[in-house]
Amino acid sequence: MQHTAEWNALRLHQTTLQDVHLRDLFADNPQRGDNLSAQAHGWFLDYSKNLLNSKTIDLLAALADKADLRKKINALLDGETINVTENRPAWHAALRHPDPPPEVVRELNRMDDFIKQVHNGRWQTVVNIGIGGSDLGPAMATTALRAFAHQGLDVRFLSNVDGAHFEMVTDGLTPAHTLFIVVSKTFTTTETLANTQTAKAWLTNALGTQKVNDHFAAVTAHPDRAQDFGIYPQATFTMWDWVGGRYSLGSAVGLSLMMAIGSGAFKQMLAGMHQMDEHFRSATWAENLPALIGLIGLWNRNFWARPTYAILPYSQELALFTPYVQQLDMESNGKSTRAEGTPVATSTGPVVWGQPGTNGQHAFHQLLHQGSDIIPVEFIGFCRPNHDRTTHHDLLMANLFAQAAALAFGSGEGETNTDSDPHQSFAGNRPSILLLGEQLTPFSLGQLVAIYEHKVFTQASIWNINPFDQPGVELGKTLATGISSELAGTTKPKSTHDSSTQSLIRKYLALR
Ligand code: F6P
Repeated sequence: MQHTAEWNALRLHQTTLQDVHLRDLFADNPQRGDNLSAQAHGWFLDYSKNLLNSKTIDLLAALADKADLRKKINALLDGETINVTENRPAWHAALRHPDPPPEVVRELNRMDDFIKQVHNGRWQTVVNIGIGGSDLGPAMATTALRAFAHQGLDVRFLSNVDGAHFEMVTDGLTPAHTLFIVVSKTFTTTETLANTQTAKAWLTNALGTQKVNDHFAAVTAHPDRAQDFGIYPQATFTMWDWVGGRYSLGSAVGLSLMMAIGSGAFKQMLAGMHQMDEHFRSATWAENLPALIGLIGLWNRNFWARPTYAILPYSQELALFTPYVQQLDMESNGKSTRAEGTPVATSTGPVVWGQPGTNGQHAFHQLLHQGSDIIPVEFIGFCRPNHDRTTHHDLLMANLFAQAAALAFGSGEGETNTDSDPHQSFAGNRPSILLLGEQLTPFSLGQLVAIYEHKVFTQASIWNINPFDQPGVELGKTLATGISSELAGTTKPKSTHDSSTQSLIRKYLALR
């Protein structure tokens, strides 16, 4: 893309904005806040506080066309083989389609039946055992939708192989009333299998061996492997190799979420996702929320050379949204090789980080406002809360709007006044978008998840990378397997390790 006329036009255009301040752009156009915004399906996107104008949006739209984004979206949503390195579709859109493939209908119905048993009072606690895409989505959504949760069922998430996590998650639980759902697409993930064995031992200690298997369900693309673990076929739910782990919330991977909120609310979430799929397919680029967020992110990443961005939800319920998008974005777009195997020539996926406002304000916003690096921000907020404490909500939202304004405009003329204290100077001119929703519900959460999935897809399409594989994770896994057998004493420590790793292993073996 970087050799195309469309890319070069954006480069040239960026130079015309190089010395411009957001204050000037707003002064020149009193309607800017309305003009540089988009709204669709209950969401309002304000992108006016970025160093861009309507010409930038036209040029970005031309770049999207040059990258064949429309054709790629259709291929994504229609289940074509777009995960080229693994030779399969990435068809998460089928999971939430109103007329899905029969196998999707079958599993949804099975989940529905299964959760009825859960709500019959037998189980007090459900523990989801999984990691990465088999944890982050359901954990994020269960936290986000706590206002819609069934009372009396405690849903917890166990992911880390650190034994301390097992201790923390099972603290205070009654084994007789605890159900574990083992979620692993591959059913080979070391962390998940180790936690499952420990869960079995924990149950066996308390209840004896006989009934232990009653306390497990599984979600996997390899049901035979779950059954080798003793998990019953009737409690094993299927996902398919065409569902990527970090795109799998709408599949049976969301079983623990469905248990928390019920199948009606779960289906509402799927409906919200589908609505955003169709919006992504059909809206013009200037009205297309995921495409716009992706293109503006790319503008900041490639043309302003910003290597990182922060996602700051002003919603405590979205506390796990940023970690969720970290995997979605960084595992998808953290690539240096194009889909066809040649090296990329531009910067790709940025570092994603953040935490909910207002807590972040008292932690890292200092650096956002006055640090030497400019970090674009993606704010998220809602007009109506899921509680009655409206004074709190007004305070929260006042902070949200104030932060976006302070980043953009700084302290007005203060910083040009040489008599003023330089420590008090806020230069402003720091970009942000603000995504304002009506209320956080299962439906709008589904929309939000799809917006971010498609934002990532938009950027991957322009960088021409495959966002659906993750080969970079494999090397660490292979090395850890070798080292863990050395730590267990089943193989001798290898002298072929580098000297740093050798000395760390020696130290650990001596001190453990
Ligand atoms: O971290 C690598 C990864 O392969 C992720 O892509 C995936 O979501 C996670 O591990 C868990 O994989 P599985 O669901 O197969 O246990």
